[in-house]
Amino acid sequence: MRSRSRMVIFLILGLLSLLAGYFIMTTPGRKPVVVSIYGPPIISVEQRVQDVGKVPTDSKVNTEFLIYNIGGKRLRIGDVETSCGCTLAKISKRAISPGDFTRIQVVMDTSLKLGPVRKKITVQSNDPKRPELALFLIGDVQPKPMASHAAIQLQPKDKLVLFKGQCATCHVQAGVGKTGKALFQADCAMCHGVNAQGNHSAGPSLLTANYDAEPVLQHVRDVIANGSLRTPQMPPFAKANGGPLSDDEIASLVQFLKFQSRQARMGLLNATATGEVEDEAAFQEALKQPH
Ligand code: HEC
Ligand code: HEC
Repeated sequence: MRSRSRMVIFLILGLLSLLAGYFIMTTPGRKPVVVSIYGPPIISVEQRVQDVGKVPTDSKVNTEFLIYNIGGKRLRIGDVETSCGCTLAKISKRAISPGDFTRIQVVMDTSLKLGPVRKKITVQSNDPKRPELALFLIGDVQPKPMASHAAIQLQPKDKLVLFKGQCATCHVQAGVGKTGKALFQADCAMCHGVNAQGNHSAGPSLLTANYDAEPVLQHVRDVIANGSLRTPQMPPFAKANGGPLSDDEIASLVQFLKFQSRQARMGLLNATATGEVEDEAAFQEALKQPH
């Protein structure tokens, strides 16, 4: 009899430790790590590419990255930077003991976005192997449902959002005093690509139009000055519409696009868009090395 109840107790204990094991393995921050305490700090991320899925435009999207120290010495997080101020990253704790973890809270403002988006967050730390680690937030921004009797086009909360407040510090200031190519790279490249070759869903290629035709030139000037009638993603840049650009500045952009499309037709625009190529490489690397 006594050995029978002892068996039962052992069985229950066995089951309990299995459950505890499961709990430990599935709870963030509690994974057992076997490392030398003399080893360097090692940064590891639960998921370097976070997919927020379908999210509405004109809203704020929250997500977080869990950062572990699976090394032996204390991990210190330095700067946490995002390329676009529409995405803000905040870290709760910068010194992480071996085996411990911290969170990076990320908020993305989806104003003026539609379709697939990708934002990069760079984390600096004292991990000697990966002192700079790129994290990515991806998602698919959906249009807001339209009121049935409303205008045909989508109306954003504020189509001038890019030219105001915090957004303007980058999206307008960088272009002040510039014309042509420099102005394009400061104000337009983030959506149309450094070479105007297009940038995924952020903006189409501007190289395919026939800039020798006067109606085309007129259309291009019109869209830059007054924005697109089809989507609020292309805001009106003319001063008369509340934008940052004078007529002369807009004319200089049209000139640049005309020149640029001719370069493209002659095959002279190969592999010069370095920033974009680098970002794409970093993203592919994050997909291959997800932690
Ligand atoms: C610190 C400078 C900075 C600030 C501030 C900033 N941006 Fe950006 N933005 C960038 C850069 C650089 C890019 C291109 C790289 C990228 O997409 O992350 C960009 C790209 C974009 C894009 C096009 C790519 C995409 O996300 O589809 C949109 C739209 C955008 N920003 C909106 C905003 C809005 C809205 C604000 C204000 C809430 C803002 N930005 C504030 C620098 C900034
Ligand atoms: C926030 C992103 C964004 C920024 C910044 C932006 N664009 Fe656009 N742009 C777009 C999108 C999206 C479209 C497509 C609109 C449509 O389909 O009607 C577009 C359309 C255009 C078109 C019309 C293309 C066509 O074939 O009809 C031109 C020209 C243009 N943009 C030039 C510019 C220039 C020049 C700048 C800088 C002063 C600029 N854009 C800044 C997103 C942007």
